[in-house]
Amino acid sequence: MLVVDYGAQYAQLIARRVREANVYSEIVPHTLTTEQILAKNPAAIILSGGPSSVYADGAPRVGSELFEAGVPVFGICYGFQAMANALGGLVARTGLREYGATQVSAVGEPHSILAGVPVLQSTWMSHGDAVQEAPDGFEVLATTPGAPVAAFVNLDKSLGGVQWHPEVKHSEYGQQVLENFLFGIAGLERNWTTGNIVDEQIGRIRDQVGDARVICGLSGGVDSAVAAALVQRAVGDQLTCVFVDHGLLREGEAEQVERDFVAATGVNLYVANEQERFLSALAGVTDPEQKRKIIGREFIRAFEEAERTIIEKAKAEGEQIRFLVQGTLYPDVVESGGGEGAANIKSHHNVGGLPEDMRFELVEPLRTLFKDEVRSVGRQLGLPAEIVGRQPFPGPGLGIRIIGEVTHERLELLRKADAIARHELTAAGLDDEVWQMPVVLLADVRSVGVQGDGRTYGHPIVLRPVSSEDAMTADWSRLPFDLLSRISNRITNEVEGVNRVVLDVTSKPPGTIEWE
Ligand code: XMP
Repeated sequence: MLVVDYGAQYAQLIARRVREANVYSEIVPHTLTTEQILAKNPAAIILSGGPSSVYADGAPRVGSELFEAGVPVFGICYGFQAMANALGGLVARTGLREYGATQVSAVGEPHSILAGVPVLQSTWMSHGDAVQEAPDGFEVLATTPGAPVAAFVNLDKSLGGVQWHPEVKHSEYGQQVLENFLFGIAGLERNWTTGNIVDEQIGRIRDQVGDARVICGLSGGVDSAVAAALVQRAVGDQLTCVFVDHGLLREGEAEQVERDFVAATGVNLYVANEQERFLSALAGVTDPEQKRKIIGREFIRAFEEAERTIIEKAKAEGEQIRFLVQGTLYPDVVESGGGEGAANIKSHHNVGGLPEDMRFELVEPLRTLFKDEVRSVGRQLGLPAEIVGRQPFPGPGLGIRIIGEVTHERLELLRKADAIARHELTAAGLDDEVWQMPVVLLADVRSVGVQGDGRTYGHPIVLRPVSSEDAMTADWSRLPFDLLSRISNRITNEVEGVNRVVLDVTSKPPGTIEWE
């Protein structure tokens, strides 16, 4: 299934919903010609929403040839209007713009695209233009006050579309509408399952790698763990993983990699214990960007040293390391223009990025996957739940959650506070409600408190629970007061040196998720 992206933020969401229906989907830019789109041999096509008006100068066009090729096509919002326009329908302003929740009424008995959907449904809309008249041969299926033609279908040609956004959760029957197209109109099969993804990726890795040796870095996060586990399944002992323990991980995370991950996968693991190296490089440093640069630089150096040891060992065995595993995900590929290679990987999301003089070819087994698919692959491969379910955690780790200089004692203190907060959040069953919850130590701030009979002069801990879809924007999570109170009591009682716990109630923007 191809999703043609007309420039709104919805294309990725559409592709994910299609995959949730167990159909493989890829996103292509609208700048491809009809010929290029058809050359990809799609089983069906969805035209996404977009910000333009079909009548605006320079608005992306859809050639009518696309609808003559015998490939089922579904238009959403702008894609719906572009289809109407290309096939001789009438698109114009009605003077009534619809944004947000909008009630759609079916025309006659709901069927085809609207099969199984009630006559009245609440949908999510965002449009100024509307289809006034459907093209010849199309049946009008639904209408709203601002969109006389809000859905149409041509069953003979397997073409159809809707004015609303079925891919957003606020559209009540959105998934049903998408599946009606995928299975009812386009006749696709549900064959994109976790088991199939694993089998296919293992086959691809074997084809790419052959009998060469492979090296891989583990960070403690879900992406590198799943990528490594897949490669291990595919080529076994040809893979060696490197874990640079920079001492900036949270409580229990190094053990999860060194003990639980190894037990679950049987991977060859090389551990570089570099805690002292990072601490001395960070001594006296308080500037956040400086910290990031130092951590990134030391990480690459430590990784390269480990790499040299592994290369030497391979040499002694008459072998050579040819490949490096990278946990690039599909959104990174799409956001960087779908190009090939290391240059497109966002360095912000990898500790230090890749060395500039990289000598290895990349193996990227997650390149076609969304995050939720990576997690299901991880579960399928039997990885520890703590790793598979881990919330996003920055590469520089606790180094950027200590506001002030990073020292051994401060790390110990923050690790304890963070472990308590995470434990209580999990015990309250709220892990899924929260995108991530940085726990931050204001190491250079002190406030007066009273604990037991004495006056204290301790540090505050900040809780920063946020809800988010993609970390680009976020809102502070409204955690229950009794949970916040439990976390606060436990941290102030159990973590020496902390006498205050505060809650960050800032959205992003204007705040960022992390404090540094
Ligand atoms: P901000 O603080 O920019 O964070 O709102 C957005 C997301 O990115 C994570 N983050 C980082 N991840 N290296 C990383 O690998 C970094 O230097 C870094 N800084 C922030 C942050 O945890 C959130 O998920």
